[in-house]
Amino acid sequence: MKIVTTPDEIQSIALAKRRQGQTIGLVPTMGYFHEGHLALMREARRRADCVITTLFVNPMQFGPTEDLDNYPHNFGRDTALAESVGVDFLYAPTNAAMYNDEFSSTVHVEGLTSGLCGAARLGHFDGVTTVVAKLFNQTLPHIAVFGQKDFQQLAVIRRMTSDLDFPIEIIAHPIVREESGLAMSSRNTYLKEEEMGAALSLSQAIAGAKAIAANPSSTSNTIKKNVRELIEKHAECTIDYVEIVNALSLEPCDTIDADSIILLAVKINKRIRLIDNSLLLDT
Ligand code: PAJ
Repeated sequence: MKIVTTPDEIQSIALAKRRQGQTIGLVPTMGYFHEGHLALMREARRRADCVITTLFVNPMQFGPTEDLDNYPHNFGRDTALAESVGVDFLYAPTNAAMYNDEFSSTVHVEGLTSGLCGAARLGHFDGVTTVVAKLFNQTLPHIAVFGQKDFQQLAVIRRMTSDLDFPIEIIAHPIVREESGLAMSSRNTYLKEEEMGAALSLSQAIAGAKAIAANPSSTSNTIKKNVRELIEKHAECTIDYVEIVNALSLEPCDTIDADSIILLAVKINKRIRLIDNSLLLDT
């Protein structure tokens, strides 16, 4: 595996691979790899000749009071893990290489970004779409793999890819969970032992929501109320949102059908923001 740090170099490599007739699979990340990230890289490995993983903690997608400065990192460990799943290039540019002093462009997706995490984290998705558009242009992939853990992000990136005519197939990978049910996240490393019960309440509340949704007479409101009650039993939890929306439009839905998805964002002890989601009628 080769480590690359400049946009010019990764783009020349991508162009050369394309000229040789190879397909390129991209996995964008912010590092501190866990099994969720590695599953995406394995998926890209299965689908493409050349796999590029990007590792860039993108300052543009963090708000002023968020955890940019404390975002976990361990480059040595990440390098070994990416290599172990067959990544060909680990692209880890510096902030200066990504955003020079004159940088003044933003990619903005309307609509899908306004609710859920977009309402709670103003400007967040502009940061995500801008950096992902840059990473697409730098790495010239045929496919790019994203996790369903960040469900709204995936929807926004699909919209951007289609709207801006990027010739890239977006592949969605299911959420990878700990045995306990906790959705894997780099931010789980901030959790203290005594906060685990509160963190687990997200996946437990989702399991409860699915059980209620199996009853055809259940409504969004009854399900959301039950989820809130379960999570709020834990004093450490502050709910950011509990929403049930259509998985394609992200518009709220009152009645449950095969496209209804429940999405949660919860802060643990006001420090750690966790998200989770699931289709309500999947098994
Ligand atoms: P990051 O949080 O590092 O996540 C990188 C990719 O891993 C995303 O596609 C995310 O959905 C996926 N992922 C994270 N945890 C997962 C899990 N438990 N199961 C499945 N997939 C999981 O998301 C970002 O970085 C950034 O916003 C990025 C897209 C790189 C732009 O900066």
